[in-house]
This record gives sequence, structure tokens and C-alpha cells, in this order.
Amino acid sequence: MRRAVCPGSFDPIHNGHLEVIARAAGLFDEVIVAVSTNYAKKYMFSLGDRIDMARETLASLKGIVVEPVGEGLLAEYCHQRGVSAIVKGLRSSSDFDYELPMATMNRQLSGVETVFLPAEARYLHLSSTLIKEVASLGGSVSDYVPRSVQKRMLSGESASVQLPRG
Ligand code: PNS
Repeated sequence: MRRAVCPGSFDPIHNGHLEVIARAAGLFDEVIVAVSTNYAKKYMFSLGDRIDMARETLASLKGIVVEPVGEGLLAEYCHQRGVSAIVKGLRSSSDFDYELPMATMNRQLSGVETVFLPAEARYLHLSSTLIKEVASLGGSVSDYVPRSVQKRMLSGESASVQLPRG
């Protein structure tokens, strides 16, 4: 069983993430979408909501599970679950500069490899941060996030959703 992990905050999950996860699912027997919480970051959505959104949008794809990554090291998480590769999408050289030290550190810590997939051209500009900014200023994000995520971003029904103040 070749198991990979796609880690991230997914605040919220967007079409660029989904495309990379789907490609990872084509390369590995099982892909764990590991939803992280970095306490230095301010999130729009709670961990539970970020997990729910990922589960809702990935439900139709086989071989994918979504779970929280917990508070410890990703390398340790991979070791405990028998994960052979971390899969990350790369949009730009700045993504690579950010990811390379983490990939090296993770390999040194637990032997887990990192596989980089070049982002699909139409998603090169996408980031959760930019999508949240566009949505909070009244722009349409329908081309960038699944419908269920868009609904959550627009409804503000969930108490955990706080649109950034402009
Ligand atoms: O979507 P993000 O916030 O850019 O995801 C970052 C993530 C989760 C991949 C990174 O913060 C991470 O690996 N966190 C786990 C903690 C850890 O192992 N830190 C050392 C990295 S070498």
C-alpha cells in the first residue's frame, strides 16, 4: 500500500488544492488529506469546518481520507501512519523556496519523501488568502472554490465564519 499525505490548512479548500489531491490519488493507493492548525495563524474557518468542507468536496473520489493532522510534527505523523510521501502543489519559484527546506527537514526527521506536482496553469494564481479577500470584498469566487465552500463563505451562517474586516 503506497500511502501519501496532502497536508495544509485548507482555509478553505479550493480548486487548486482539489486538482493536486486528485492527481495524487492517481499516483498512490491512498491519500490522506491532513488538515493542520498552526496556532500562529488566524483562520476564517474552524478546524471542524475546514475538515467538513474537504470531506464534502472529496466525497466522490476513491482512496482519499480527510483527517486532522494534530499538533505535532508532520514527519512524525507520516512515520506513525506509514506514509511514504508528502505531496505538495507548486505554483511558483517562491512556493519552491518555501517548500524545499521543509521537504529536506521532513526527510531528515523521518525519511518521508516530498513529491512536488506543478500546479495546473489555470490555478497558478489561486490561494486561500486571495480567495478570502475577494469574497470578503463582494467578488465572485465561484470559479475558484466548490459550490459548498462558496455557500459557506457567503452565508456567514456558521458562527465560526468571520469575514476579515476591510
Ligand atoms: O496550508 P499551509 O498552512 O501552508 O500548510 C503548512 C503545513 C501544514 C504543511 C506545515 O505548517 C506543516 O507541515 N506543519 C506541521 C508542523 C511541522 O511538522 N513543522 C515542521 C515542518 S518541517
